[in-house]
Amino acid sequence: ERLPALLAAMPKAELHIHIEGSLEPELIFALARRNGVALPYAGVEDLRRAYAFTNLQSFLDIYYAGASVLLQSQDFYDMAWAYLERAAADQVRRAEIFFDPQTHTARGVAMETVIDGLSRACRDAKRIGVDAELILCFLRHLSEEEAFDTLEQALPFRDRFIGVGLDSSEVGHPPEKFARVFAKCRQQGLHLVAHAGEEGPPAYVWAALDVLKVERIDHGVQSAQDPALMKRLAQDRIPLTVCPLSNLKLCVFPDLAQHNIRQLLDAGLCATINSDDPAYFGGYMNANFLQTFAATGLDAQHAYRLARNSFEGSFAEASAKKRYV
Ligand code: ADE
Ligand code: ZN
Repeated sequence: ERLPALLAAMPKAELHIHIEGSLEPELIFALARRNGVALPYAGVEDLRRAYAFTNLQSFLDIYYAGASVLLQSQDFYDMAWAYLERAAADQVRRAEIFFDPQTHTARGVAMETVIDGLSRACRDAKRIGVDAELILCFLRHLSEEEAFDTLEQALPFRDRFIGVGLDSSEVGHPPEKFARVFAKCRQQGLHLVAHAGEEGPPAYVWAALDVLKVERIDHGVQSAQDPALMKRLAQDRIPLTVCPLSNLKLCVFPDLAQHNIRQLLDAGLCATINSDDPAYFGGYMNANFLQTFAATGLDAQHAYRLARNSFEGSFAEASAKKRYV
């Protein structure tokens, strides 16, 4: 009884949330109607029934279909605002939000439309006590050239995002594919993160660190297979943005009780808990904390450590980090 209350009330940072993954079925259908977009699902219930995933790719196919209803700046605003209100309710003080511009520019939506809607919502979130920033993600199943084009389209809006990431289908698309793009982003002074070790091997985590030179690893749970990598992550305090309900729904672990978050924390890693794609995986931040603690027996000391890790791992300025807690 006391631990759930602590988990719900404690201030926290969310470092791994794909804004397109916060699009609830109700909002998908509302936007489809508003924009005259036809969907291959009869309604909200029919769509929710399709949320039975077997691996990352089975999720991504439905996730990209859902995002097809986003056309106007206001659509991006409404999606982000709905997430930010949920985050505020879960005592999220800082949110570093991924967006996938290529999912939208490929449909003819302008980069400016995407960034304008999202950044207005982030600005307005200060009013509800959330400090929100954007991280642009490159889709790793697309080419290096397409990533360079995307960066070029985004650079006029350089002041409206703080970093870049790498997401989508992991296996078969190792970090090395984007070495030159990330080098250019680094020259721009952007923060660097990448999904690695979600389904892919420890070698992808090593490459994200040593080739892309990322500051955080998104997921990274497969690192536990490699003791030398665990040592590196602990010594360099590389944050891992772990997403337990995502890992459960995408069958990375057979059940939450077998999740390795406790092993990561007890090995001294800067592990954090995050929601990834909450509309698809059945829970926002506090649901991830509550269900993970209930299943794995983490205690109050782990809770404080996770909260501290989330602020340590964030890209907020040191002065802001003190205000959050
Ligand atoms: N895009 C949205 N969610 C993702 C995940 N969990 N892994 C890779 N790409 C994603
Ligand atoms: Zn993710």
